[in-house]
Amino acid sequence: ENNGIRVKILTIGDSGVGKTCLIMRFSGEEFVQSFITTVGIDYKRKIIQLDDSDTKYYQLTIWDTAGQERFRTITQAYFRGAHGMLLVFDVGSEKTFKSVEHWMDQIGDHVKKITKDNEYAVPPKVILVGNKADIPDNQRQVTKERAQEMADKWGIGYIETSAKDNTNVQEAFMTITKLVAPTLSLGDSELGGGRTNLAEVGSSEKKGCAC
Ligand code: GTP
Ligand code: MG
Repeated sequence: ENNGIRVKILTIGDSGVGKTCLIMRFSGEEFVQSFITTVGIDYKRKIIQLDDSDTKYYQLTIWDTAGQERFRTITQAYFRGAHGMLLVFDVGSEKTFKSVEHWMDQIGDHVKKITKDNEYAVPPKVILVGNKADIPDNQRQVTKERAQEMADKWGIGYIETSAKDNTNVQEAFMTITKLVAPTLSLGDSELGGGRTNLAEVGSSEKKGCAC
C-alpha cells in the first residue's frame, strides 16, 4: 500500500488564533464562527501533490494542537517526529504575536533535545502564519511588516492567511510541505523510519521487520 511520502505537520500557537479553522479549511470543511477550543490533540489526513508535473504524492498528517497554557506539556510531546510546523498568530492580537517568541523557544528546546539524542536528527521546518487577515484594518494590531521582520529574525518564512475567507490556506500547507520535501528520505516513506539506507532496508527485511 502506497499512500505517498508521509509528512507530519503540526499547527502551534496561542489559543484562539485559528489553528483548528485552518486545518478544517485545508481539509475542505466549512468555516465556523463559534469558538470550540481544542482539548488535547486531534489530526487530519490529506494526500497532496506539490505540482502537476510531480509524480510524487505526499500523505500529510496534520496534528492540531491545543493552544491553551494548561496543555503546553501535552502539546510539546507532539513535536516529536514533526517535519514541519505552522506557527500561527492572530494579526488582530498583539498578545498572540508576542507569544511567537515563546513558541520559537519551545521549538528550540525540542531541537536541542532531538539533536542530543541523534546527531543526524533533522530539525522541523517552521513558517510563521499570520491568520485572520480578513479583519478590518482598524482591528489589526500587527502589520505585515512587523510580522515579516519577526520571521526574518528567526530565518523563517511568513504568510498571511484567512481561514474565514479561505485565503492562502492551501498555500500555507503547500509551502511547508515544499520546505520539508527535500528532508524526507526514502526511509520515511517506505518504512516509516528515519535515515534508512538501502543496506539497512535489506537487513531489516531479512529479520522480518514489520515496521
Ligand atoms: P485552540 O484550539 O484553543 O488552541 O484555538 P485555535 O487556534 O484552534 O482557534 P480556532 O481555530 O478554534 O478559532 C478561534 C476563533 O477564531 C473561532 O471563533 C473562529 O471562528 C475564529 N477564526 C479562526 N480563523 C479565523 C479567520 O481567518 N478570520 C476570522 N475573522 N476569524 C477566525
Ligand atoms: Mg483548536
